[in-house]
Amino acid sequence: MTRSLFPTQLYESDIGDERPIEELAHSIRMLSEDDVAGRRWSAEHRYAGYTSYASLNDLPRRDPAFADLAKLLTRHAATFARELGWERKPKLDSLWVNLLKSGGQHSGHIHPHSIISGTFYVEVPKGSGAIRFEDPRLPLMMAAPPRPETFVTIEPRPGLVLMWESWLRHEVLAGSGKGERLSISFNFA
Ligand code: NI
Repeated sequence: MTRSLFPTQLYESDIGDERPIEELAHSIRMLSEDDVAGRRWSAEHRYAGYTSYASLNDLPRRDPAFADLAKLLTRHAATFARELGWERKPKLDSLWVNLLKSGGQHSGHIHPHSIISGTFYVEVPKGSGAIRFEDPRLPLMMAAPPRPETFVTIEPRPGLVLMWESWLRHEVLAGSGKGERLSISFNFA
């Protein structure tokens, strides 16, 4: 018999019905036009599109659509935390929007100073980049033979929310389609 110890959890839920996503898509496009500091930051950091990551830290206060989403994400994070066996509820720490142009990608990273991170997908045109997770044991494996599930790729779809523990390394693969991939990322602490 072989036991599975310390598995890595990925929380996945469709919340498109609980939250009208057209409204969020509209808000993201508005921000991508109006947020001059964010546009500048995105250009300086060669982000292929626009992200509010470094420029706006108060989206739920600015826009009721984000306030509603924040509440919904907090409920789902509480469910995930229970499944992780945690005894306290995670608190939403930051939330930012991403408008990624075709061909844009985001190389492997973790989210420091957080406990749960994730993304909610708003618009995902055909050929949009997928998200790829890396086995957290990879740096420790030394001589272990390769195994098929070292990297797990998930194709996003509108309405999907993914949450994971913030230490889990992930990347956004380059897309090949046309159109803008809209998503909202967040950290809980
Ligand atoms: Ni990330």
